[in-house]
Amino acid sequence: MTLNEIWAAARPRLAPKCRACPVCDGRACRGEIPGCGAMGDGSSWTACTEFLARVKLRMDTLHECWKPDASAELFGVKLAAPLCLAPIGGMAHNYDNAITEERWTLCAVDGAKRAGILPFTGDGAPEEYEMGLAAARANGGFDVPTIKPWRDNGKIIARAQECAALGCPAVACDVDAAAFANMGSAVGQVGAKSPADLEEICAAVPVPFIAKGVMTGEGARKCAGSGCAGIVVSTHGGRVISSAQATGEALIEIRRAVADSLTVIVDGGVRTGADIFKLLALGADAAMIGRPFFVAAVGGGAEGVRLYADTKLAELENVMIMTGCRSIGEIGPNKISLG
Ligand SMILES: Cc1cc2nc3c(=O)[nH]c(=O)nc-3n(C[C@H](O)[C@H](O)[C@H](O)COP(=O)(O)O)c2cc1C
Repeated sequence: MTLNEIWAAARPRLAPKCRACPVCDGRACRGEIPGCGAMGDGSSWTACTEFLARVKLRMDTLHECWKPDASAELFGVKLAAPLCLAPIGGMAHNYDNAITEERWTLCAVDGAKRAGILPFTGDGAPEEYEMGLAAARANGGFDVPTIKPWRDNGKIIARAQECAALGCPAVACDVDAAAFANMGSAVGQVGAKSPADLEEICAAVPVPFIAKGVMTGEGARKCAGSGCAGIVVSTHGGRVISSAQATGEALIEIRRAVADSLTVIVDGGVRTGADIFKLLALGADAAMIGRPFFVAAVGGGAEGVRLYADTKLAELENVMIMTGCRSIGEIGPNKISLG
């Protein structure tokens, strides 16, 4: 099974909601929500890919390293690479049930585990959260469930404690779903979280808590000050606002603002090992990929997810050789140019 075969198998199953484009860059599906596009003119997604394309790699092959070590540790979990699989939800809504919530979640967690990358699963419709828990249970807690910013902090805390009891290494909350107009029966039940809300939640949750969808240094500082262990620099794949800054660009300000006090993961248009490398060089601890993993699961199941992740790992290792980085720790700003 090759990635081309997986994409060819996924294309008819995903039509017309997703075209399974050879390069998933947000152009063909601009504005398609429900669907897999980004909001409005799609600019919050395309800004990410355009920013990443502007960052250039600086070659250095005069070194002794033949086999770089791309392994990393996130929230106490040893990984083959600093890569996460993003939570993707709303199968009925966004993908006309091309795959069930249950199958997607199991493929995502199982495939990520086989590849040694960290999976995040979603929340929203009641069955979505349950599926994430079931996949975590089937994989010894190997999952970071991503809970919606429910208005009731008690609901977030109860869910997070349930996940911690299953052995999940961390729990996330997609705080950027504050104005989500897209959650069927949940409209009006989610909202913005204040630093006091985050403090209450973090104090009650026994595992690291991650705020997903933080885009400014000020926001990141609020998270650190409230007890969060990490953030995901993200615009929800451009689905919650248009005209947002590129996530890679926001990362620069964020890393400056919080130094090493937070684990920082970045998503949005990350498609290659070179993109992962660029974000690490700009200060990320890990990168996260969403939509292509979903296409891989539809076309190739858990093996498709594993193959896609392994391919990104091989690409990352290749860039590490070409830039003279023996380990992830050696990837820094001196290895890129901002053009
Ligand atoms: C169809 C769809 C559904 C999504 N559902 C969720 C979700 O339930 N929770 C969440 O935190 N993010 C959700 N996201 C956002 C992703 O987790 C991630 O931030 C984004 O897709 C990353 O960008 P990429 O797809 O360009 O890699 C969703 C994205 C898509 C495309």
